[in-house]
Amino acid sequence: MIRRVTRLAASDFKLESIDLYITSRCNRRCSYCFLPDAYFDRTQHMTPATVAAIAAWASGAATEITVLGGEPALHPEFTAIVRDTAATPIRVRTVTNGSRQFRAALPAVHQALSRVAVSLDAPSATVVDRLRGRGAFADAVATVEELRAAGVPFDLNCTVLADTVHLVPEMLVYAEASGAGRLNMHWFSPVGRGALHAADQSVPAAAWRSDVLDVVADYRPSRQSFTVDCQVAFDFPVPGADRGVCAVRDRTNLQFLPSGAVFACGMLLEDEALAAYRWQDGALLRRAGDTELARTTSPCGACPLRPEDGGHRPICIYNRLATV
Ligand SMILES: C[S@@+](CC[C@H](N)C(=O)[O-])C[C@H]1O[C@@H](n2cnc3c(N)ncnc32)[C@H](O)[C@@H]1O
Repeated sequence: MIRRVTRLAASDFKLESIDLYITSRCNRRCSYCFLPDAYFDRTQHMTPATVAAIAAWASGAATEITVLGGEPALHPEFTAIVRDTAATPIRVRTVTNGSRQFRAALPAVHQALSRVAVSLDAPSATVVDRLRGRGAFADAVATVEELRAAGVPFDLNCTVLADTVHLVPEMLVYAEASGAGRLNMHWFSPVGRGALHAADQSVPAAAWRSDVLDVVADYRPSRQSFTVDCQVAFDFPVPGADRGVCAVRDRTNLQFLPSGAVFACGMLLEDEALAAYRWQDGALLRRAGDTELARTTSPCGACPLRPEDGGHRPICIYNRLATV
């Protein structure tokens, strides 16, 4: 029997941006990372040729590629990847923990990067270093200073955990004062290393509403160029919440791993057997079997991949609180 393989075009998706995990190497082992230890244990890099092929596949559909990892600057060809991709019609953004290697690469890449997101979970060295390891806060702050000096637009990524939720009001003020264009706030997904090392750190739904969503909605930036982009996480009746949204069903998101696995949902990266797609021989192929696609087939009015919490149904992690 000949099995037909479906090759998918970027126009089969509704993509604004795609995520390329260009390396599994990382200088840190964050306790709450959604990637599993197995990902970091086998060092894998995406080749510059693969990055170029994916960029060519995506161009005309996506307008931006986000380069991450692991720590993207630990890819031996980080500079070439950023510069070569920026020479195409696609913008390049990166997400970094502010590593020394990123700062070393910055003079060579700053003109090629459209934006940088620096991960910083709290305005406190003690708290951040406990989550991400010694020197993590100082790295992030030094990188923010260098980005500001180089005139590169930057954002802060903040994953909110049970231990840091009380710092949200301070974090909003800190992020605005840092010169960031945006503060991206993530609900902590307890998967990967996070499931092993930070299992008790999910912010419960009720606290997410009162201590994060309400605080963000009430925050009035004094600088017009500063915005907050906060995950809604549960089906609260707030602007931006939409139970029907599903990144897998709606085909709005793609995350390419160095192994060739390609996911539509970032919740599942810990198990590559669940990836809906595979990048192989310069093409995007759909995978058969019990993948994320099979697990999200029917419209179910909430995310089927996460449990309910105190009567609150989880919604797609890509729902964002719309603030005025
Ligand atoms: C996996 S990291 C990779 C890039 C880089 N090494 C860094 O730390 O920014 C990408 C982003 O995911 C966020 N993140 C990691 N684990 C998470 C989790 N369990 N839930 C939500 N966000 C998470 C990080 O804070 C970071 O902003």
